[in-house]
Amino acid sequence: MDGIGSPQGGSGSVAVVDRPKRVVLGVSGGIASYKAVEVCRRLVDSGVHVVPVLTRNATRFVGEITFSALASEPAITSLWNGREPIPHTRLGQAADLVVVVPATAGFLAHYANGFADDILEATLVATRAPVVVCPAMHTEMWEHPAVRDNIATLRRRGVHVIEPVEGRLAGSDSGAGRLADPADIVAVVMGLLERVTEPGDLAGVKVLVSAGGTREAIDPVRVITNRSSGKQGFAIAEVAVARGAAVTVVSTVEPRALRGIEVLRVETAAEMERAMYSLAPACDVVVMAAAVADFRPKLVADSKLSKADGVPEIVLEQTPDILAGLARRRRPGQVLVGFAAEAGGDVAVKAAAKMAAKGVDVMVANDVLAPGAGFDHDTNEVVIVGSGGEQATVGLSSKQEVAAAVLDMVVERLRAVGRAGQENS
Ligand code: PMT
Repeated sequence: MDGIGSPQGGSGSVAVVDRPKRVVLGVSGGIASYKAVEVCRRLVDSGVHVVPVLTRNATRFVGEITFSALASEPAITSLWNGREPIPHTRLGQAADLVVVVPATAGFLAHYANGFADDILEATLVATRAPVVVCPAMHTEMWEHPAVRDNIATLRRRGVHVIEPVEGRLAGSDSGAGRLADPADIVAVVMGLLERVTEPGDLAGVKVLVSAGGTREAIDPVRVITNRSSGKQGFAIAEVAVARGAAVTVVSTVEPRALRGIEVLRVETAAEMERAMYSLAPACDVVVMAAAVADFRPKLVADSKLSKADGVPEIVLEQTPDILAGLARRRRPGQVLVGFAAEAGGDVAVKAAAKMAAKGVDVMVANDVLAPGAGFDHDTNEVVIVGSGGEQATVGLSSKQEVAAAVLDMVVERLRAVGRAGQENS
């Protein structure tokens, strides 16, 4: 497709937001609330337009006047300020990013469950902007299963979590749960805001993604499959849509409700192969995040195999290599991305070898045995290698953050072949 570029659809450059970035600084009520003041000051000093939004409990720790004096606008502490009927929607819609410093256990529980009971919660439910939460609490609370579950839920939804660090806590205690350093929080926020300067860097780009593990029939009731959940593939789709792409996912799993993504359900490697080969020619970017079975039963029994007939001998045959086939068929300028599921060793070297063997542009290596990485986790840890020798490492992060880094390399590739706008042009 031609005409990749501005969100309006014209070819050429990416539209650039030429105004101060607008950040809602949410403050919930914990002893670390006072450190949000430093975050506020540093963001303002970095040229960010900061709107402080404080919960009632936050005001027990730090006065709203402190934030009003340092921020770009007076602090907001209530849904019912008497001046405007729906401040949360204005705040949520206008925000380029929302960061919550500190995020207490109570706040996380409310946010994970979609409560909209106060000005901060309502603003978060009303925004489509990226959200960063910075938890801070006592170690026992941070390690409580309910808090862990809430963090996992938020990560799954694409919320960025800046984990607390070890150190002094309230009182004489110390341990895990101390708010991350305000300078580190500001660095993460500024990094995310940089991406906001390029809204729609995939505007007009058609992206095809495969997700999930294929299921190969043994008989009408049994299959050979793997532990792929489809989370990484759908995270790619979700982030690509947010950056303006038109996205189709060929998936073996039931998709989460995601706005703007077309999903085609398949089950086997053969079905995935057919779907990918028929859709790929119309796409600019193809990402194989699916875990395709390498082997399938050569013969599928037409009735359920019975114990009475003894242990069956299942002869396997190799499945087609879909990614290699896509590379052979690819049209000029199309960017082809594979994922390499490795089990230890130098994953970047192994992925580079797979990239060369299959003839693709970008290979994303994950060590599927590393804690928190690979199959079924909400997080992943990858090395992204490009066929031109580029390399990017993403430490343990949400699958959405991994997706963003993969798509950054894809955008560079598209720009190199003149199929996406130039930065800041
Ligand atoms: O789905 P999740 O639970 O979120 O887990 C994510 C993931 C671990 C599945 C994902 O990050 C991942 O690594 N996907 C690729 C898994 C895989 O099949 O890796 P591989 O090294 O065996 O294959 C390399 C590439 O060839 C992959 O892009 C794969 O899709 C492709 N392939 C493999 C075999 C085959 N017959 N056809 C293929 O196209």
